[in-house]
Amino acid sequence: MKILVTGKNGQLGKSIHKLVANTEQTDDFVFVGREELDLSNENNIARYFENNVFDTIINCAAYTAVDKAEEEEVLANKINHLAAAQLSQIAKNQQAKLIHISTDYVFDGESDNPYTETDVTNPINVYGKTKLTGEKAIQEAMPTDATIIRTSWVYSEYGNNFVNTMLRLSKERDELSVVSDQIGSPTYATDLANAILDIVQNKTFKEAGQETQIYHYSNAGEISWHEFAKEIFKMADIQCSVSPITAEQYPTPARRPMNTIMDKNKITKAFSVDTPDWKESLNTCMTILKEQQ
Ligand SMILES: NC(=O)c1ccc[n+]([C@@H]2O[C@H](COP(=O)([O-])OP(=O)(O)OC[C@H]3O[C@@H](n4cnc5c(N)ncnc54)[C@H](OP(=O)(O)O)[C@@H]3O)[C@@H](O)[C@H]2O)c1
Repeated sequence: MKILVTGKNGQLGKSIHKLVANTEQTDDFVFVGREELDLSNENNIARYFENNVFDTIINCAAYTAVDKAEEEEVLANKINHLAAAQLSQIAKNQQAKLIHISTDYVFDGESDNPYTETDVTNPINVYGKTKLTGEKAIQEAMPTDATIIRTSWVYSEYGNNFVNTMLRLSKERDELSVVSDQIGSPTYATDLANAILDIVQNKTFKEAGQETQIYHYSNAGEISWHEFAKEIFKMADIQCSVSPITAEQYPTPARRPMNTIMDKNKITKAFSVDTPDWKESLNTCMTILKEQQ
C-alpha cells in the first residue's frame, strides 16, 4: 500500500502523521505540503504525479481561511475546487482511491434537523461554495472509488483553531464575548484522523469499483461557540468570563451558517468509526496542550 497525505502541515495532516509515526504502517505513507505539491499550480500537480503513483490519496490540504476567501475567491477556488478536480482525475488514472475532506459550510444552516448527506446544499460564503464545487467535481470525475468526508469545527493541538485562539485571547483579556446562536459539533482532528485510518483499513473500502460516497463526521454532541469557549476555560482552569453575543453582533467578512449539526449515522454504520463525545475529546486535547507548556 502506498498512501499519499496532502496538507502535511495542517491540523488534520499532522494528526494523521502523529498516529502513523512509529507504527508498522509508517512506511506506507508519504506526507506532502505545498513545498512538494502546490495545489494552486496545475502544472506542479501534474508533474508531481508523473513520478509518484499511489494506491490511496488522502487530501487534507485546502484553502481554509474562511473570511479571507471572500476576497481571494480565485485562489480558494483553485485549491478547493480545481485542485480537487485534478486530484480526482489523477486518482482515477492511477486506479487509486481518493479520500477528500469537505465541510459543514456546504449547508446554509437554516435546517432545524441534523444534516444528512442527501440534504440540499446551499453554501452562504465563498469558502463553502468552493468546497462544494470541489465535491461535485470529484463525484463527476470519480463515480466510483472516492470518499468525501464533511467535517465541522476542526481543532487540534496544532495551528490556528478556536481552542488555541481562546487560550491566546484569555492571556490578553479577562472578559470575552463569544457567539451563542451558531450551533454545531466540534471535531478533534485526531478523532477524524483515526476515522480516516479505520476507513483506509476497511475491507469494503479497499474493494475497487465502490460507488463514490459522501459521509458526515464530527464529535458527538451539539454546542454553540459560547459553550465551547466556556468549557475550554473550565478545563484549562482559566478565570475568563465569557458573555454570549449573537452572530449579528459579531459581523465577519464571511457569513457563517447558524446550525450545522450533522447526522453521522452513515459513517458509523459503514465503517464502525468512533465519534467520541466532544467534551471527552476536548479534554484529551487540553491535556496534551497542558503537557506541552
Ligand atoms: N478547520 C476547520 O474548522 C474545518 C472545518 C470543516 C472542514 N474542514 C476541512 O478539513 C480539512 C482539513 O482542515 P485543517 O483544519 O487541517 O486545515 P488547515 O490546518 O488549515 O490545513 C490546511 C493545509 O492545506 C495546505 N494548503 C493550503 N494551500 C495549499 C496549496 N496551495 N498547496 C498545498 N497545500 C496547501 C496548508 O498549507 P500551509 O500549512 O503551507 O499553509 C495547510 O497545511 C480541509 O479540507 C478543510 O476544508 C476544516
